[in-house]
Amino acid sequence: MDSNINHNKVYIATFFCYTKMDWGLKNRLSRIFNPKSGKTVMLAVDHGYFQGPTTGLKDFKKAVEPLLPYADCLFITRGMLRNCVDANTDVPIFLRVSGGPSILGELSNEDITTSMKEAIRLNAVGVGLSIFVGEKNEDRTISNLGRLVNEAEEYGIPVLAITAVGKEMERDARYLSLACRIAAEMGAHMVKTYYCKEDFKQIVESCPVPIVIAGGKKIPEKEALQMAYDAINEGAAGVDMGRNIFQSDNPVGMIKAIRAIVHEKKSVDEAYKIYEKEKK
Ligand code: 5RP
Repeated sequence: MDSNINHNKVYIATFFCYTKMDWGLKNRLSRIFNPKSGKTVMLAVDHGYFQGPTTGLKDFKKAVEPLLPYADCLFITRGMLRNCVDANTDVPIFLRVSGGPSILGELSNEDITTSMKEAIRLNAVGVGLSIFVGEKNEDRTISNLGRLVNEAEEYGIPVLAITAVGKEMERDARYLSLACRIAAEMGAHMVKTYYCKEDFKQIVESCPVPIVIAGGKKIPEKEALQMAYDAINEGAAGVDMGRNIFQSDNPVGMIKAIRAIVHEKKSVDEAYKIYEKEKK
């Protein structure tokens, strides 16, 4: 276990130090990935961009504010950032910049919705966009990723490609590695995807940029912790988790428990105790 974790740390450090990267890009990445652990706990609260008032985020400010001290960065849309997050916050902001369809429409019909100028104005450390591999608009969304990387690199802003999120199709290693590798080939600096029980390691090994996992639909807390633990142990560089934190009966306990796994190498049982302690 330890050797895997050390390997991951070296891998992230190598990614930071030896890839030919502009200072600004490197600096932003070092605000996303904790320099000590080499990993990140991103709090995803962008769900409303296609789901509207998602369960757990209806009163956005009330839900998100208590979680901010424990998030390495906040994955959010510009509208919710401007209206619901105090500009005095020191939590790095990772901006979702794609959208278009609602949950009632064709989800793959996304385009870039937020400009690079806006991302800079909002002091974002990164921008994220979804690609829809194997879906109706796969070619356009993949081209959008390429265009976003072209623009973001002009300003030293890392791009997160989000893949397979929200889909009902089977998310096995074959599909996920196809999607993650395409994202990296297009120039994404990081990829968000799902964890899969079989061969997740292969996805990590065939993708040269850090992978963070989305949590997906709400599952029992211990199972969500186990998923985070397995993903980290198999090479993920962190999580970009939403529903399994903000829909928990104890969101603060849950994000603290996730941090303990991602940054402190705690076991699932140790992390679960952290979650339970906070509940009391
Ligand atoms: C929605 C997203 C979310 O940020 C992503 O799904 C992470 O949230 P969750 O852990 O709830 O799946 O990109 O498209």
